[in-house]
Amino acid sequence: MKTITFKDSQKVAKAVAAEIIKIVNQKPNAVICIAGGDTPLPVMQELIHEADLKKVDFSKAYFVGLDEWVGLGKETKGSCIQTLQDNLYEPLGLREEQIIFFDGKANDLEKELDRINAFIAKKGLDFILLGIGMNGHIGFNEPGVTIDSEAQVVALDEVTTRVMSKYFDEQLPLTEGITLGFKQILAAKNIVLMATGLKKAEIVKQTVKTKPTNQLPATVLKLAEKEADFYLDEAAASLLEEESL
Ligand code: GLP
Repeated sequence: MKTITFKDSQKVAKAVAAEIIKIVNQKPNAVICIAGGDTPLPVMQELIHEADLKKVDFSKAYFVGLDEWVGLGKETKGSCIQTLQDNLYEPLGLREEQIIFFDGKANDLEKELDRINAFIAKKGLDFILLGIGMNGHIGFNEPGVTIDSEAQVVALDEVTTRVMSKYFDEQLPLTEGITLGFKQILAAKNIVLMATGLKKAEIVKQTVKTKPTNQLPATVLKLAEKEADFYLDEAAASLLEEESL
């Protein structure tokens, strides 16, 4: 996993957006997956800005959701679909058929897994932008997760249930997440893991120095065939040894 450090989160966002734009300009019907959460928000702004300037055209691209809280849909502020919908899909003017996203409220989650798995099996992922949880989770692939799995439903880790209140206006009794699995993530043609801010510095350090293990899911990205890039700002990289910067 190659670490690439930029001065601040804005510069990271510009670099990540440039990667995505390059891919879509080469392949207009590319399949792009962007994580929910706070970290990718500046990347989304950058993509919208560049699309407004006509530097890129997303009208043929597909956008796949990485994960969702089981029980939530777009009417809940802080759900993954609401974050992506309001901050990226709508501003880009995407059509419904361009968006392939887990329905966290589906009665039959198995069917939901099958639907998303079938799409990815057919089209693959050209690019995936991942964030890292405070416990090293990727999507909702929590510590201890099965790593040779396609999309799956995973019980939320204790750290995730503690951290999750930052996304929601009220306390929610959430216990599970639905997420793409590592089998699909590792097969993506381009993988970018992004971390910004001082609070991620410790988990970034652990990820960089730990051999691949399902106990620290972000380390599993080291098994990707096409090397994953770890994009950091100086704050998130602040605990790394000089030589790995
Ligand atoms: C969340 C989401 C992930 C996200 C990660 C980091 O719980 N399940 O998709 O990438 O944790 O979130 P943030 O960027 O808000 O720190």
